[in-house]
Amino acid sequence: MSDLLWQKPGVKVDARIQEFLAGEDVLLDREFFLHDIQASRAHAEGLQRIGILDGDELEALLRELEALAGDFTEGRFVLDARYEDGHSAIEQRLVERLGDTGKKIHTGRSRNDQVLVATRLWLKDRLLRLQAVCVETAEVALARAGAEAMLPLPGYTHLQRAVVSSAGMWWAAWAEGFIDNAQRAVDTLAWVDANPLGSAAGYGVNLPLDREHTTRALGFGRMQVAATYAQLSRGKFELGAIDALGMALLDLRRLAWDLSLFTSGEYGFVTLPAEYTTGSSIMPNKRNPDVIELMRATYASLAAARAEIEQLLSLPSGYHRDLQFSKGALVHGFGRGMGALELLPDLLRNLDWNRERIDAALEPSMYATDLAVELAAKGMPFRDAYKQAADPAQWAEGDPVKSLEARSSTGSGGALGLDILRRRLDLLGIGE
Ligand code: ARG
Repeated sequence: MSDLLWQKPGVKVDARIQEFLAGEDVLLDREFFLHDIQASRAHAEGLQRIGILDGDELEALLRELEALAGDFTEGRFVLDARYEDGHSAIEQRLVERLGDTGKKIHTGRSRNDQVLVATRLWLKDRLLRLQAVCVETAEVALARAGAEAMLPLPGYTHLQRAVVSSAGMWWAAWAEGFIDNAQRAVDTLAWVDANPLGSAAGYGVNLPLDREHTTRALGFGRMQVAATYAQLSRGKFELGAIDALGMALLDLRRLAWDLSLFTSGEYGFVTLPAEYTTGSSIMPNKRNPDVIELMRATYASLAAARAEIEQLLSLPSGYHRDLQFSKGALVHGFGRGMGALELLPDLLRNLDWNRERIDAALEPSMYATDLAVELAAKGMPFRDAYKQAADPAQWAEGDPVKSLEARSSTGSGGALGLDILRRRLDLLGIGE
C-alpha cells in the first residue's frame, strides 16, 4: 500500500492490521470514485473562492481531476489495494502530478465529509434510476391494462378461485403500484438531496468555506446545515434510499410470485419469453423460470443490507469507523435490487397469456358473487341474496366479459380508471 495520508513518523504500519481496516473498502470506493472526484472539483472551486487557492492552482487541480476521471473510466487508472481508499488515491494522484498544489486539496475537508458527499451523490443517481425504472414498468403495465382490459383472468383470494377478474385489473394493479414506487423514489430523492460537504470531520473548520457554492455546483437542492448532523445522517439517508427501493422490490416479489404460479403446469396461464427461462442439467423436459425466482429473492438481499446498516447506526454522535461497513451493504443491496428491476419492463412487455388455460379455470362458482349482488340490486336484502347465491344449484356457466363489464365502479373490471393513472404517471415521467 502507498503511504497513508495520516502516517506518523516512528509508528510502524502493520500490514495485517491495515488489511483489516481497509478490507474491501478500496474496491467499494470504485462505486463512488467519480462522485468523489466531482465533489473534489466543487471543493477546489470553493477553496479558490475564499482565497486558499489562486486561479492557476484551481485550474491545475480541475484539469488533473478531470484527467483522473477519464483515466478511471477508461481503465488507465485502477483503484486497487495500492491505496487505502478512494480518497487517498485522489489526493496522491494530485500530489504526484501537481506537488504542493495537490497537497492543498484537503484544506478544510475531512474524509468524513468526503465519503458523505460522494455517497450522497451516488444515492441521488440511484434514486433517479429507480424512478426511471418504476416509471417504465408502470408505462408497460398501463399500456397492457388498456390493451387487455377485457381479457378474463381468474381472481383469487387465499389462492382459491374467487371471482372473475381480468388481465386489465392485474396490469392496472402493477401500474398503480409502480406509480407509487416512482413517487416514493422522487420523494426520497428530495429528502436526501442535501449537501454535507463543508461539515469537515463533523465539527466544521476555521475557514469561511463557501458551502452555497458547493451546494449549487454539485446540484444539491439544499445544504445540510448542521455539521454534526451531516455525520448523523450517514447511514440514515442510505436507509431512506433502501426503503424506497424496498417498496418496488416488495411489489416485484409479489409480481414474481404471481408469474411463478401462472407459469407452472398447474395454472399454465402465462408463457415466459424463452430467454427468461433456463434448462435443467438432468431433466431434459424442464424450462425453469429462474429469472423470476431471482427477482423474487432480491428483496431478501435488500432486507439484509437494511438490517446491517441499521445495526451499524447504534452509535453515539460523531464519525466512527463502523460506518465504513454501510457502503458494502448499500452497494450490494442496490446492485441486486436495481439489477432485477431493470429486467422487469422487458419481461412484462413480452409475456404471453394462454387463453385456453385461463378459460378452463373460470368456473361457474366464480359468478356467485355477481348473482348475490344482482339480486341485492333488485331489492332483495343482501344477506338473503347471499344465501340464495350460495346454493350450487344456482350456479351456471357465465360470460366473463359481461361479468367484467358490469363491474362499473372506478378501478374495477369495467371501469379501470386508466385515465386517472395516466395523469399521475405523466407527472412522474422524466425528461418529458
Ligand atoms: N473509508 C472510510 C469510511 O468509509 C472513509 C472515512 C475515513 N475517516 C476516518 N476518520 N478514518 O468511513
